[in-house]
Amino acid sequence: MAPTQNLKGPKGQLYAEQKQFPDETQFQRSNTSSAYYNSPYYLVHKNQVQPIPARRNGVPPNIQLADYVPAEVGSGIQAAKSISFHSVGDTGAAKVSRTQTAATALEHQAAVADAMVADVQKGGPGGPAFFFHLGDIIYNFGEGQYYYDQFYEPYREYDRPIFAIPGNHDGMVFGQGSTAPQGPTLDAFLTNFCAASPGPSPDGGGLVRSVMTQPGVYFTLDAPYVSIIGLYSNVLDGPGVISSQGGHFPLVNDQLDFLASELQRLKADRQAGKRAIILAIHHLPLSTDTKHGGSTGPMADIDAVCKKAGLWPDAVLSGHAHLYQRFTRVHPNGSQAPYIVCGSGGFSATPPSVKPPAAPFKLGDFTLEVNPIVEFGYLTVTTDAKTLTITFFTAMPKVAVAQADTVTVDLKKGAIVGSGGSPVMGGSGGKSPSGTKKPRKKGKG
Ligand SMILES: [Fe+2]
Repeated sequence: MAPTQNLKGPKGQLYAEQKQFPDETQFQRSNTSSAYYNSPYYLVHKNQVQPIPARRNGVPPNIQLADYVPAEVGSGIQAAKSISFHSVGDTGAAKVSRTQTAATALEHQAAVADAMVADVQKGGPGGPAFFFHLGDIIYNFGEGQYYYDQFYEPYREYDRPIFAIPGNHDGMVFGQGSTAPQGPTLDAFLTNFCAASPGPSPDGGGLVRSVMTQPGVYFTLDAPYVSIIGLYSNVLDGPGVISSQGGHFPLVNDQLDFLASELQRLKADRQAGKRAIILAIHHLPLSTDTKHGGSTGPMADIDAVCKKAGLWPDAVLSGHAHLYQRFTRVHPNGSQAPYIVCGSGGFSATPPSVKPPAAPFKLGDFTLEVNPIVEFGYLTVTTDAKTLTITFFTAMPKVAVAQADTVTVDLKKGAIVGSGGSPVMGGSGGKSPSGTKKPRKKGKG
């Protein structure tokens, strides 16, 4: 159902178009990935991390949801006594080859985007409050000219703010010379997600969605009942890198300092049962997808910081692998947390290149709980700071949106208390008891 009046944020932010129009079936700017992958700069430097842009001058590393949504959304959250939001990564539509047309690539992304739009329209003020993107927004390589086809157009009816951490494809760079890239890393990401003030995007093709005003490429979003700490894991296909790892990479360790200070800042609220803490990082800490394998470097970095802080995340969300996987991890303090890979936002669903053992199976302190789901889809995360529920919905073109997996954490106990077929708590898309492939509604895609 079309909204009668779209949201306007407290600083004049606009999110969705008033006028509806059909999903596009061809790119406005055709995508020629091979030109980037074969460019002299990329070929020489593809195994090197890129510098991480500094946070905007004078702004704190955390932002408040209330600065992005009008009072009616805040009231909806308070009335529901819980918050719900969407999350997924790897949404860009660009995989065009002999086996996949532009129309198919666009249709895959649109199926997921349209299902999320339907959630927002159905949920109203108490429904999903925002979309936290897990990176790889744009392929290839994250240039401004592709933001219309791969970001602004697909989410043109998504009437909520979209926050994001960059993925490797957003930060990768290329160039016709071998000594310097054509443009600096993350240039377009900074323009579209880390602007100093909201307003129309130069890359938005005239659509109304305001550029996002995140403080930097790593930051914390504080919302009622939950804080999401987003890290940037750089440009390599693998592994993810968030620090110098003892001098191995030419990076300063300010992301670790940021993580440490954010955990310190949030610790009292978490211990008082006032908010959940979720960590978002594009490269997964662990995966059974051997093409996009796990990144043990960031895991060691994160573990060291959490151990020192005496605080562990209640869930970790990643993208990068183009599928859905759910692990349970037992932290060194004994708490259980879901570590979820959800890179199924629309780009090239890819099965693991080596089939993992059937779930459940243990890998150290991780247990793969469900067999990888190689379909497009997205997460709905719901929490009241007492429990945290994360549900994966599949959203394939011309197929009804279906709940495929869910997990609930008791935040006080630090224990997983429901998963798979267990009942889930409220929030748009999460009100009914779960079951494998439970049809919910028809997506537009
Ligand atoms: Fe990626």
